[in-house]
Amino acid sequence: KPDPRPQEETVKYEVIDDVAWVYFNRPDKRNCMSPKLNRQMKIVLEELEFRDDVKVLVLTGEGTAWTAGMDLLEYFRMTEAEGLGAIRKSQRESYGWFERLRWYEKPTVAMINGWCFGGGYGPLFGCDIAVASEDAQFGLSEINWGILPGGGASKVAQELMPFRKAMYHAMMGENLTGKQAEEQGLVTECVPADKLKERVQEICDVLKKKETHALRATKWTMRRMVDMTYDNGLDYQIRAQEALHSFGGKEARTEATSQFLDKKEFKPGLGTFDT
Ligand code: ACO
Repeated sequence: KPDPRPQEETVKYEVIDDVAWVYFNRPDKRNCMSPKLNRQMKIVLEELEFRDDVKVLVLTGEGTAWTAGMDLLEYFRMTEAEGLGAIRKSQRESYGWFERLRWYEKPTVAMINGWCFGGGYGPLFGCDIAVASEDAQFGLSEINWGILPGGGASKVAQELMPFRKAMYHAMMGENLTGKQAEEQGLVTECVPADKLKERVQEICDVLKKKETHALRATKWTMRRMVDMTYDNGLDYQIRAQEALHSFGGKEARTEATSQFLDKKEFKPGLGTFDT
């Protein structure tokens, strides 16, 4: 079966000063996620994950959208026409890169520049920090076209938002602005559109200076503990810290402690040690 959009580059990226800026790149289709985009995104994420010149990954969108969710034509209609095997394949491709992002080795920042719908909540949740433009629009629009918010989307809303707000959001099919998304916990913060890139760059500049192994252990611990009891969480933290010692963490910690206690070069309460 011929590819409906053979020339399309659905994902693009550039690496500048240790930050990988990855773009959903179907602006004419509001960056909705086709099977091809899902496959290309997985390849790009894998390419960037272990590059020494990538310390932080930013996921953003070209044009007016972050992503308008799953592609109703290519992900749903065309795939469904091919039967269950094709449906499962497409689901695995999309859920696969969402999962990859959740457990990414590097810190990740979602820079939500515009529309963010439905299936887009998967990568939104996958990113560790989410900064939205005040005028971005967030919607669980599934109910508006007769399906439920699947592909992780309802779980994301329920996990990040207060329950009453999440329920309303899922049932009503009304959009939230960036400001409302911030108030309801869907994103970390929002800023005016003309300050968006500057703010994300600022966050990246801070993350870049952190000790990479400790940062990875921190984000994984935060995610793992979501469904743990206090005691299990505590035990997990002990083991994660001990594991961190096997990955360069011990040397970093010794050095940081010395910079504070012996050399008086920095104060952990006021900034990051010199890695
Ligand atoms: N699937 C397929 N095509 C899409 C999608 C999508 N999710 N979103 C946009 N497009 C296409 C449009 O069909 C249109 O194609 P065309 O130029 O060939 O006609 C093109 O992208 C531009 O879209 P417009 O609707 O003209 O753009 P506009 O800026 O006016 O509106 C908006 C943007 C609000 C995002 C609108 O496109 C829209 O409602 N999209 C669907 C959003 C949605 O509900 N996504 C699914 C969520 S549920 C899920 O992900 C499982």
